[in-house]
Amino acid sequence: MRHLLSTRELDRSAAVAILDVAEDMADVADREVRKLPTLRGKTVVNLFFEDSTRTRISFEAAAKRLSADVINFTAKGSSVSKGESLKDTAQTLAAMGADAVVIRHPSSGAPLVLAESGWIDAAIVNAGDGTHEHPTQALLDAFTIRRRLHGAASRGRDLGGVTVTIVGDILHSRVARSNAWLLTALGASVHVVAPATLLPIGIGEWPVTSGYDLDDALAAGPDVVMMLRIQSERMKAAFFPNAREYSRQWGLGDERLATLGADSIVMHPGPMNRGLEISAGAADSARSTVLEQVANGVSVRMAVLYLLLSGTHQADTKENAA
Ligand code: NCD
Repeated sequence: MRHLLSTRELDRSAAVAILDVAEDMADVADREVRKLPTLRGKTVVNLFFEDSTRTRISFEAAAKRLSADVINFTAKGSSVSKGESLKDTAQTLAAMGADAVVIRHPSSGAPLVLAESGWIDAAIVNAGDGTHEHPTQALLDAFTIRRRLHGAASRGRDLGGVTVTIVGDILHSRVARSNAWLLTALGASVHVVAPATLLPIGIGEWPVTSGYDLDDALAAGPDVVMMLRIQSERMKAAFFPNAREYSRQWGLGDERLATLGADSIVMHPGPMNRGLEISAGAADSARSTVLEQVANGVSVRMAVLYLLLSGTHQADTKENAA
């Protein structure tokens, strides 16, 4: 693996391999000294052109636990707000010797541009690009589902037979896109539910089934219910009448929570709009994996950085440069 740009490039065995390395990394988190020397001397740059808390600190924690040096570059208050181009930023980071660039950008495709540009010879990790993809989020979601299902016997397993219902703002969600491809590659069946206005036109090309009615979808007894944040910052028009109507029809409230099967789980990538797409009762229930997702995010990102930066990567880089 040279870069991690999208989950569409991962087949079952590649995905299982990443999740298995993440299991090893999670074991490190349980030790007294939570640090490995593996990436000593490597530099990881967090290049964030969009606001983010959990993803940025998660990558930072992951890189530090592997002993890499971390540089945080946020667009706000940087030379980018003075009009610097992605090319100039990339060349600056290259001159500083970045080995990996973790990029979050409002434009779909920005990480791919960086990976193919030749401006910088570093491993590129997509940490969320526009409404396109967020591959490490999907990997941590898959990891969380696998652990809840198989516990200590997770290694080597996929998600065959698991049913996942993803609910809400599918249209603007890079989390939904990355999960649709990854979870199905791992053998799960994915169903998406949203108001018609929040389903993308091309949904027929996704490897999922879709519908508009949340109660119907929940009556089918999914193993996993994944709630998505309403992404108001990406909405330039009215996509539903009002917040009350949305939460009544598509929110996971306490009544709907009570209808879920005994072993089913409730996921949310965060940040949550409590009272809109998810009630406080659902968010804080024993079924909720929200905090597990955050903890697992560090292990999964450690696995990704490790796979990209240790071992064969240097040889790859030299060949590519030659
Ligand atoms: C997601 C994102 O930024 O795409 N959040 C995250 O990575 N923690 C989902 C969201 O913002 O709703």
